[in-house]
Amino acid sequence: MKKVNIAIMGFGIVGGGTYDILTGNYKMIADSTGFGINVKRVLDLDTQKIIDKGIAKEVATKNFEDIVNDPDISVVVETMGGVEPARGFILRCLEAGKSVVTANKELLAKHWAELKSAETDSARIFFEASCAGGIPIIRTLEQGMQANNITQIMGIINGTTNFILDKMSEEGLSYSDALKIAQDLGYAEANPAADVEGYDAMYKLSILSSLAFGKHIPYTGICREGIDKISARDIAEGKAMGYTLKLLGIAQNSDGKIEARVNPAFVPDKHPLAGVRGAFNAVYLKGDYVGDIMLYGSGAGAHPTGSAIVSDVIVAIGMRGKKAKKKVSKGEPKFNYNYSSKYYFSITAEDKAGSLAKVTALLGKCGVSLASLVQKEVTNGQAYISFLTHCTYEQSMQKAIGEITKLDCVSSVESLIRVI
Ligand code: NDP
Ligand code: HSE
Repeated sequence: MKKVNIAIMGFGIVGGGTYDILTGNYKMIADSTGFGINVKRVLDLDTQKIIDKGIAKEVATKNFEDIVNDPDISVVVETMGGVEPARGFILRCLEAGKSVVTANKELLAKHWAELKSAETDSARIFFEASCAGGIPIIRTLEQGMQANNITQIMGIINGTTNFILDKMSEEGLSYSDALKIAQDLGYAEANPAADVEGYDAMYKLSILSSLAFGKHIPYTGICREGIDKISARDIAEGKAMGYTLKLLGIAQNSDGKIEARVNPAFVPDKHPLAGVRGAFNAVYLKGDYVGDIMLYGSGAGAHPTGSAIVSDVIVAIGMRGKKAKKKVSKGEPKFNYNYSSKYYFSITAEDKAGSLAKVTALLGKCGVSLASLVQKEVTNGQAYISFLTHCTYEQSMQKAIGEITKLDCVSSVESLIRVI
């Protein structure tokens, strides 16, 4: 049987998981594809961890030149993460005629145009593993939705934050304990701020929406909020109202205007996204003819992500020499930042006559209509009051919150969370 040589650059969580699958399912993959995939080189800063995995010493290297200059290696997997040297290594591999499979959403989002234009028919870049772990969302967008104009993507596309929110909500864990477990399980980015501050989901949304809308949606145009300011109280308040808190990525294309944002949101308990637990991800797509579809599965971790990488390796080997895919068009999209949403917000304010009237008067002045409000408790003369609005515009809501913050009777605005 024909053997195809590949290399893995970066032997951490995902690189290691990829190797497990390539060896564990070697025969099954060989039988179904007709070729055996041989890992000829593994690059890491620490070659001992490669050897400790039982891999032959001569396979391990610290030197990228051993990979790029080897004409027998036709596909290179990049699982190092970060922008440099990954960017430089990938460009050199493509230039040397090697296809690249990467899980690196940060790099793809930041250097999309450069990487895509470096592709040739014989050396292409594949990135199924970059978004939503083991879910075949890239292939669905590229090959399963061609009959449709996709108008909306909405989903849970970061496993770490979903895991943290779930553990806080269901098991009462603290934010930091839940994050520590997510890190130990291999879900988090090297710098977990990328997860909890929403950067990771923002990079993924840039990639997914670019494929969905057929035009490059730069990550710089995406509004981003993470879960780092969310408190256990917010989660509990939502729960009491019948909502589950999720970090969502949302992108909509209406009349050529793009709304793209990553933010925590209260999702009604009956909504399918509310039931997405742990490090699972789920992505809703709306197509003009197919209607709604939802993809669901493991969103992070060694083997789910490794599974997406191995599937790309197989496709990359099969595609060698075939014509490149349709390109995503360039040119700046028009963004709509004044989208409409319902909002939950809470304040602490002096518990005296007229306080609430001043707040509701400001909301009215800004065009924000209230659906309900609850004053729960009073501590040291300060009342904790939470509000739900009807659909309103983002700019109206931000203006109202800005003005409420300035009121003498208001000590603080505790939270502002969008509601689905
Ligand atoms: P890890 O930190 O576990 O693995 C990265 C590995 O690459 C480490 O062994 C690291 O060595 C090594 N490395 C870093 N820089 C170099 C370099 N210059 N030369 C050689 N080796 C290098 O990260 P993950 O496996 O979790 O993530 C890898 C990529 O996959 C990232 O782009 C991430 O965003 C993406 N990803 C991760 C998922 C996950 O669930 N973890 C899921 C989907 C995508 P050292 O440890 O010594 O720094
Ligand atoms: N840190 C990422 C997450 C890994 O938690 O979703 C998967 O892309």
